[in-house]
Formats: sequence, C-alpha cells, structure tokens
Amino acid sequence: MARIKADKYTEFVSAGFGKDLAKRLGLPQPAILRRFDPAAPLLTGPVLVVGKGSGADALAQALLDWQLDVRRTATPKQKLGGIILVLDEISDPTELSEPVRTVGASLRDLAANARVLTISRPSSAAQDPALAAARHGVDGFLRSLAKELRAGGTANGVLLEDGVPTTAPSALGALRFFLSGRSAFVDGQFVTVSSEKGELPADWARPLAGKVAVVTGAARGIGAAIARTLARDGAEVIVVDVPAAGDHLAAVANQVRGTAVQLDITRDDAAERLLAHAAERYGRLDIVVHNAGITRDRLLANMDPGRWESVIAVNIASQLRMNRALLASDLFQNRPHIVSVASTSGIAGNRGQTNYAASKAGVIGMVRATAPLLDGVDGTINAVAPGFIVTEMTAKIPFATREVARRLNSLLQGGLPEDVAETIAFFASESAGGISGNVLRVCGQNMVGQ
Ligand code: NAI
Repeated sequence: MARIKADKYTEFVSAGFGKDLAKRLGLPQPAILRRFDPAAPLLTGPVLVVGKGSGADALAQALLDWQLDVRRTATPKQKLGGIILVLDEISDPTELSEPVRTVGASLRDLAANARVLTISRPSSAAQDPALAAARHGVDGFLRSLAKELRAGGTANGVLLEDGVPTTAPSALGALRFFLSGRSAFVDGQFVTVSSEKGELPADWARPLAGKVAVVTGAARGIGAAIARTLARDGAEVIVVDVPAAGDHLAAVANQVRGTAVQLDITRDDAAERLLAHAAERYGRLDIVVHNAGITRDRLLANMDPGRWESVIAVNIASQLRMNRALLASDLFQNRPHIVSVASTSGIAGNRGQTNYAASKAGVIGMVRATAPLLDGVDGTINAVAPGFIVTEMTAKIPFATREVARRLNSLLQGGLPEDVAETIAFFASESAGGISGNVLRVCGQNMVGQ
C-alpha cells in the first residue's frame, strides 16, 4: 500500500497540473511535510545554535553526538536545516533583541521543512516582573514566528523549569522530537520539562523496545496509527475496541503482531480486564493510551441527555475510572506512562460540541491533576490535543465546512493520524520521562484558540 504523504488536496496542488491551477487561482499551496523516516537523517541540513551562556554551549556540544552539523555562526546563503535559539538565561525583555535578530538574518537561508526551536524557561515561576516579561515574551515571539515560516517549516519551544539544565534527558528528548519528522504537524507549541528524570534510548530507532502498551479505540483512525507507531518503535501492543469493531481490530492486531481485546471501555471493570490480559500475556504493562472517543454533535438547545451522557461516559468518565485502577495496580508502578487524546475543541470550544468540548477539556483537567500522583513511581501522564486530522470522524463533516476547517492553520492542511501517533509515541518514551502534565497540540497551529 502506498504511504499517504498528505491529504488529497495537498498532493494535488504539489505537482503538475494541480500546482499550476492552484497558482493561477491563488489557492492555498500547502507543502508536503517531512514526516518521520527512520532511515533519513534527523535534519535536512546544518543546525545553527544561537545564544550565549553555558547552557547554549553544553547543548551545542550534546548535539554533536547526534551526528548533526552544528554551527555557532551562520554562513550567509548556506542552507540550514534548523535554528535553535537558547534563551535560558535571559532576565529582561531588552536582552531578546540581539539573539532574535541573529535568527531573523538566517530565516531566508532555511531549507524546506526546517525547524526553529527556542529553549527557555517558563514565566510562571518568575517572581520578578522583568524576568517574567522576558520569559513570557518568548511565547509571543515563537508563536508569531511559527506563522511566518514557509515551506513546511515549523517553530516550537522547549521550556525548562528552573534548575533543569539544557542537556537534561527530556530537554534533549523534546529537542530531538521537534527537530525530527515526528513533529511534522506540531507548530507554534511549547513543551515543559519539569525534572531531570528520563533517559535517552540506546537505539533511537526503537525507543520503546521491551515496553508493553495498551491502545484503546485502535480498530481504525488515529488509534490504529498509534498502535502501528508504538510497534514500529519497538513496543508490544495490546489493541482494544468495542466488540462491533472486532474484525478491524483483529486486522490491526495482526499488522502490529500484537494482541486484541474486544472491550467497551465504559464497562466498570475495563481496566481490570486489561490488567489481567497484560499480566497473563506479557507479565508487565508500561504504557496506556486513552484514544477511544466519540462525537455526538448538536447545538445545546437541541441536545438530548443520551448525546450528552454517552460522550462524557466514553471520552472522560471511562479514563478517570481506568486511571484509578491503573494507579492502584502493582503491574503499573515501574515508570508507567499514560497518554490521553484530548482535542483542540476542548481548548478553544466548538459550535455544536458543548458535550465533546466538556469531555475533552475534562481530559486536560484530569491529566494536570493526575501528573503529581505519578511522580512517586517516576511515571508521567500527558495529553495530546489534535486539531483537524483526516479520519473517518472528520469525513462526516459536511464538505465545505471540512475544506475550510482543514486549511485554517499555519501549515494550510489537515494532519494525518500518524502525526498524532508520533507525538504519543514520544510522550510514551523514557526520553520524555521528565515531562508530565503537558497538553501538546498537534494542529499545525490551528487559528482556533491559543
Ligand atoms: P474514530 O471514530 O475513527 O475511531 C475511534 C475508535 O474508538 C473507533 O474504532 C471506535 O469503535 C472506538 N470506540 C468508541 N467508543 C468506544 C468504547 N466505548 N470502547 C472501546 N472503543 C471505543 O475516531 P478518530 O478520528 O480516530 O479519533 C480518535 C481520538 O482522537 C478520539 O478520542 C477523538 O475524539 C480524538 N480526536 C480526533 C480528531 C480528528 O480530527 N479526527 C481531532 C481531535 C481529537
């Protein structure tokens, strides 16, 4: 089967007649994004590390271990694969000027699908107003720059809590995720590293080797892509879906050489059944991905109790119940990782989706409150909030609304299920062991909300 590289429109306007037509009519011309390929180099050209201080120097040194061509000054007209702007030591907004202008001078030399990254510290813990202004200034800068990049280029930021060095395992893990094709549809976003926990893998091609993962809602769409991606990264995968989807589920299980469990996750004993299956078949459980979800859209004036209650039951109540059982189980105490699928609707709201947005915002609240409960076992919980992803769920949206919705982001296209899956695989890995309670949007910097 040919690998899908982009949605149909994007493929159509990328070459030949489609490209000419789009140009003549002034239609959006999204780039074909550079997606992860284990055989391809991490970046398409040299990486420029901008910034002063020991954090910048140590980071530049660490990047050499990845066989990257690391530069501390740019050579005009020479193509760059990426720019990393290290701002961990800034304390006043006026200090942004020089490093930011250095980045600006190199933007025209960026290769297609380049990456611009900032490394800085969150403003939330800053007591001093000037320090907070400097740190939060990076937020506005980065989000605006992401909107200026072209040709599939993205800009994202890594925030290091005070005391976390630029070379902490998860700082490097996040950096590598953002530089690589794994983050193709993540744009204008920040990830916060809160501790020095975590560990970089011995083999970057199989960062989940030896791990056992459960993926709910895995019979199709994003869930099936998550199962394939976790298996590609080395995990043994248990795929879960309702009995009615049994045939599709069995096909996915075969594809990933995993095991299938037909189970409605709203059952009271759903987690107990999965734990029993994992114990019997594998003797361990390391990763749980709460992906199963439903929509039952109606304006609130027309919302019947069934629509409201089923969405809450599947999308959030089941996750809460399952997490309680997981956290209490002996099988899930050794650096466990939970990843929940939220939605940009849960951040920005969406007309006709009061029920869905309440459930997905609920997921975000739940993830933030659960993070401290996993600290003691060096576990993590994070959420991924997809924007417009091309699946059977979004195929149900009426044509005109769908075509407009999928272009309203900085990359002018919808994401693929694989884009969500790659971010989940990153959160599930030990290289994200110092990242917990985060909500990362996989939305191409959708214009909706933050
Ligand atoms: P989908 O409808 O294609 O797949 C969802 C799967 O979950 C189905 O196989 C379904 O049978 C399963 N499922 C539903 N209820 C279940 C239950 N009670 N027990 C076990 N399995 C159950 O949906 P898609 O698009 O793949 O979405 C996956 C996740 O991503 C959902 O949580 C969705 O809300 C979320 N999402 C999707 C976006 C998109 O653009 N497609 C955008 C934002 C979030």
